[in-house]
Amino acid sequence: MQIVESVSRMLELSRDWPPKAKVGFVPTMGYLHAGHLSLVQQANLLCDITVVSIYVNPAQFGPKEDLANYPRDIDRDLQLLGNSQVDYVFFPTTKEIYPENYRTWVEVDGLSGVLCGGSRPGHFKGVATIVLKLVNIVKPHLMFMGEKDFQQVVVLQTMLRDLNVSTQIVPCPIVREKDGLAMSSRNVYLNPQEREQALCLSEAIQIIKSLYKKGITNSDELIRRGSEIIERKDGRLDYLKLVDSNSLEDMTVADSHTRIILAVFIGRTRLIDNQAMV
Ligand code: PAJ
Repeated sequence: MQIVESVSRMLELSRDWPPKAKVGFVPTMGYLHAGHLSLVQQANLLCDITVVSIYVNPAQFGPKEDLANYPRDIDRDLQLLGNSQVDYVFFPTTKEIYPENYRTWVEVDGLSGVLCGGSRPGHFKGVATIVLKLVNIVKPHLMFMGEKDFQQVVVLQTMLRDLNVSTQIVPCPIVREKDGLAMSSRNVYLNPQEREQALCLSEAIQIIKSLYKKGITNSDELIRRGSEIIERKDGRLDYLKLVDSNSLEDMTVADSHTRIILAVFIGRTRLIDNQAMV
């Protein structure tokens, strides 16, 4: 495994990818867990060369968010990736990614302003910009991304399509703890009581799915029943919505294309989760 710290070195490598090699890319912000590693596994399965990036992107954090406290452990990350048949780890510095005269930003209209984009203004502008930069530097054929960040996948698929970038996203399933909590680097913020409360996200999804199976399709009713679970566990709901999986638009009546998607504050920690209705 080679660790690449400079943009120029990564560009040299990507300029000379062997012509027949399929290159897979897994962008991350580090503090890796089994969810990230499942993306690496999938990349190894479908590609000849696997590149993982580790970069905590300041541009996607709001002024009052957790950039300074975002968990980091590069030694542990490198050890995990070293054991996972990764070929290259790209670990750039902010000085190189956003030099002083940096001016260019990518916006995906509409999709960036709803759901997480509504509560985190500017977040997806930061995500779209860094991911386009990373894709331009790494030049992968496939990019492996978790459905844990469902809106992120939809926003980035749209960006790549609109800007005629040939890299394809491979969406990968959410990896969960045994009790249903979606794995997240931010789960380390939770104290034991909050860890228990955090189950309300996956429980709300499960109740909505089971009511839908029983024939309830009215979104208001389904959302009301899901929200009750959040309130019962003292979670503070940011949003709970039933949206169309492609357009992310609210659906008044749920059907097989519906995605259940939510964000909840547990104490000071904001957690997200989602699942297909069927
Ligand atoms: P990060 O939160 O580190 O996540 C990196 C990738 O891992 C994303 O594609 C995310 O969806 C995936 N992932 C996280 N938890 C997962 C889980 N429990 N199961 C499956 N996949 C999971 O997402 C980002 O970083 C950043 O926004 C990034 C794309 C790197 C741009 O800065």
